[in-house]
Amino acid sequence: MAKKKMTVLDFKKYKEEGRKFAYVTAYDYTIASIVDESDVEVILVGDSLGMIMLGYKTTVGVTLDDMIHHIRPVVKGAPNTFVAGDMPFGSYQESPEQAIRSACRILAETNCDCVKLEGGVEMAPTIKRMVDVGIPVMGHIGMTPQSATSFGGFKVQGGTPESALKLIKDAKTLEEAGVFSIVLECVPSVVAKAVSEAVSVPILGIGAGPDVDCQVLVLQDLLDMYGDFKPKFVKHFAHIRAEMVKGLNLFHEETVTGAFPTPEYSFNKQVEIPPLDD
Ligand code: KIV
Repeated sequence: MAKKKMTVLDFKKYKEEGRKFAYVTAYDYTIASIVDESDVEVILVGDSLGMIMLGYKTTVGVTLDDMIHHIRPVVKGAPNTFVAGDMPFGSYQESPEQAIRSACRILAETNCDCVKLEGGVEMAPTIKRMVDVGIPVMGHIGMTPQSATSFGGFKVQGGTPESALKLIKDAKTLEEAGVFSIVLECVPSVVAKAVSEAVSVPILGIGAGPDVDCQVLVLQDLLDMYGDFKPKFVKHFAHIRAEMVKGLNLFHEETVTGAFPTPEYSFNKQVEIPPLDD
């Protein structure tokens, strides 16, 4: 039986009921259709596609057009899964008007279910304006990859009493601004627990320990497909990269030895071929 697609309202309901859920990234039709067939409730077409799909070192070079190009096939491939579309660097920081314009393009051109953007207290006025005009917004605080250069790299956040308090303030201010959920990335578990307890919207944790409402991972990380590096918080639930290399090597071996294709994989109709005219 097809799973029932979550709505924006279900996010808060799940938290009220203490019901945990799972959230992964997808960037294309085939992977989206596989996630749709699984029990995972939410897909993020993240700007992490810059690193995972395009081979960039960071997410900063990803454009609004790149995002729309990838969100569209994911929405087509996952009709029963809630799909969030990430707003890339430079598409919302300038002004609330720019953010509304970019979010409207994402929603109208892809038909995804919400947009996600990075930032705490400083982004709240923009988020409020977006929510006021009917845009469903998911927040993202803690280690926000688009600003990683300013943090001195991909580093754990909230490791001091002051920065932990700032995260709680960020979450509360985003909730007041109208977000329906908040991604919290790379923070000590004890801080994530305090953030989650401070708000009524679900905290979607990635590298944020067990005491949050939902676990998020990049699909290529959790299935052990991405070979460049493995953050501490990533668990490999399968080893798909090794399986793929094994399959490719078998294909190569059967190609060079002539073992493939057998008649089973060939069109075997007999055709009388007339002699070639000179
Ligand atoms: O772009 C992304 O994949 C993300 C997740 C890491 C939450 O923002």
